This record gives sequence, C-alpha cells and structure tokens, in this order.
Amino acid sequence: MVSYVVAAAMLVALYVLTYYNLLKGTRCRSDTCLRGRTVIVTGGNTGLGKETALDLARRGAQLILACRSKQRAEAAVFDIRKKSGNNQVIFMQLDLASLKSVRAFAETFLKSEPQLHVLINNAGTGTAGKTADGFNMAWGVNHLGHFLLTHLLLDRLKQCAPSRIVAVSSTMYRFGKIDFSNLNPPGESLIQLIQYYSDSKLCNVLFVRELANCLEGTNVTCYSVYPGVVNTEAFRHFKWWQKVFFAPVATLFFRSPADGAQTSIFCAVQEGIEKFSGRYFTDCKVQEVLPHARDDAVARKLWELHSVTAWLESVAADGRCCLSQG
Ligand SMILES: NC(=O)c1ccc[n+]([C@@H]2O[C@H](COP(=O)([O-])OP(=O)(O)OC[C@H]3O[C@@H](n4cnc5c(N)ncnc54)[C@H](OP(=O)(O)O)[C@@H]3O)[C@@H](O)[C@H]2O)c1
Ligand SMILES: *[C@@H]1O[C@H](CO)[C@@H](O)[C@H](O)[C@H]1NC(C)=O
Repeated sequence: MVSYVVAAAMLVALYVLTYYNLLKGTRCRSDTCLRGRTVIVTGGNTGLGKETALDLARRGAQLILACRSKQRAEAAVFDIRKKSGNNQVIFMQLDLASLKSVRAFAETFLKSEPQLHVLINNAGTGTAGKTADGFNMAWGVNHLGHFLLTHLLLDRLKQCAPSRIVAVSSTMYRFGKIDFSNLNPPGESLIQLIQYYSDSKLCNVLFVRELANCLEGTNVTCYSVYPGVVNTEAFRHFKWWQKVFFAPVATLFFRSPADGAQTSIFCAVQEGIEKFSGRYFTDCKVQEVLPHARDDAVARKLWELHSVTAWLESVAADGRCCLSQG
C-alpha cells in the first residue's frame, strides 16, 4: 500500500516538474505600458487571441478584436473589458476566408481609427473546405487573408512607427512545402488538411522574413511566433470519441491559452528585440528555423506571386517596391 502511495506521489511530482519546466513555457516579463496605442488581434474572441488581447488590454491598449462571429466576439469583448477594467475594447467584423471581407475590414478600420501600432495576425484554422475565393481553407485564412490584411494596413503602421506585426505560426511549418506549380491542390483527407495547415504556417514564416526586408529603415518590425502546444478551441472539430481520448491529454500536458500567448505578447511589447525583425520566436526567444523556412528566394517568389495576381491588385505597389530591392 505504502509503495503505491509513494509511486503515485512520485508520478504527481514528475508531472508537476515536467509541466513547469517544459510545458508551461516562459513568461513575458516586459512591463511595457500600451496606453494610447492601438492594437488589432485577429481571432481575438477565443484561445490564444483572446488571452493575448486580454494582456494587451491590461497594459492600457485600445483593442480591436477582428473576428468573424459578432456573437462570439461580443462575448469576448465583454469578458476582456471586465477582466482588464479597460473599456477601449471593440469588435470589428473580419472573415479571413473572404478577401472581400478583408478589404471591407481594412476600409472600416482605416476610416474610423487614426492609428495602428500593433497588428497580431493570430486567427488560424486547419479545417476542410474552401474560402469564398476558392482557396483551401487553412492556406486562405492563415496565409492569404493575413497577407492581404497586412498590406492594406501597412501604410498606417508606417505612419505610427515604431510599430509591430506579429504572425502566429506553428512548429508544423517544418512539414510545410511550397509547390508553385500546385498552390491550391484538391483533396481534403486528414493527411492533406495537415499538409495545407503546415504549408500555411511555413508561408507565415517566409512572409515575415520578406516583410522584414521590405520594412528595413521604417521602424516597423515583424516577428513570427510558435506558441507551443496549447489547449484551445483549435480542437473543437474533433469527433466526440476523439475528444474522449484527447481531452485528458490536453488538460494534463498542453499549455493553457494564457501561457501559450506569452510569446505573442513578448513580440508585441518587449523592448530591444527590433534587431530580430523577421525572425521566429518561441518561448520568448529567437529560434533558428529549418533551411526551407529561411529560403529568401522562395519567400520573394511567394510575395511576387500574390502581388502581381489580379485578386491582390491593390497590394502590387508595395510588392513591386520590395521586389526591386532584392
Ligand atoms: N493551439 C495550439 O496548440 C497551436 C499551436 C501552434 C499554433 N497555433 C496557432 O495559434 C493561432 C490561434 O489558434 P488557437 O489555438 O487559439 O485556436 P482557436 O481557439 O481555434 O482560435 C482560432 C481563432 O481564429 C479564428 N478564425 C478561424 N477562422 C477564421 C476566419 N475565417 N476569419 C476570422 N477568424 C477566424 C477563430 O474564430 P471563431 O471562434 O469564430 O472560429 C478563433 O478566434 C492559430 O493561428 C493557430 O494556428 C495554435
Ligand atoms: C526610427 O527611429 C529612430 C530612433 O527613434 C529615429 O531616429 C528615426 O528617425 C526613425 N525612422 C523613421 C523612418 O521613422
């Protein structure tokens, strides 16, 4: 009997040690105040986005939650206001699965808000289906929608420099591939969906690299982020029997959303990281990415492709100016 108790106690101790040393991650220790600064968080209604928004609201920022669901976003606005005591938290409609919606959001934002200091491209999905423009969902939302959004807001960020862009990527970028001859492949098997997700997260890393080159000398800096494995609503699409197995593991071993949000917060507020613009951060530190994610030729080609394509017409000017530098 005693040996069972000892064994159980040791397991608990082991879990606590693992949790705090490996899973919980590093906290952002910056006490930067954001009073008078305007921040957009895409997908700020739940998970990592909501926790990031809450932290920045506590620092006094004016926050725009850019979300697709009015109802879900307004619940989050209410919650964040209550927890932070900051009433400058508002919702604006943005569906990243529609380039038209991205343009409409940017237009509304630019008309109603004179300033933008931090853009957090956080929303993400790995689900099946196509965007309104016919792209695979993960690629269209995680990469393309954010690519356009960033371009449409870039001048405002430049006017308000020093300012920052944070793109929430994933370690899944490792498995990402960019096949320029087949950028929007058909098929929606689980393996394919994982591939599209990974591809989109690789695009996030490459986009931030190229963007940093473009932004040199503007005092606008950008960073990609891996939040760790986090217990969010990202797994809401699982079937019930998958959830039965998944839930206990997620509860015990995944990071909480508040812990997972630390690196996004760090990249948004930490002083002195400007020299790392374009790099990939995890656990509040720069991490070197694999060679395929620092291939500047591919990054530039990806950029060029969008910039010269008709549906991204309005970003062409920026794209070309950047390309000519390379
Ligand atoms: N959780 C992890 O372990 C993990 C690991 C690595 C990277 N990430 C990345 O972290 C980011 C945040 O994910 P999360 O874990 O917090 O997931 P989550 O709880 O599922 O939140 C995702 C957010 O993105 C929004 N979103 C999805 N599709 C959208 C669209 N078409 N237009 C606008 N917003 C849309 C969601 O809105 P709705 O609420 O309306 O659906 C939600 O607010 C994602 O980019 C994800 O890829 C997460
Ligand atoms: C960038 O910031 C530095 C230091 O504050 C300043 O001297 C410089 O003029 C700024 N450059 C631009 C383009 O805003």
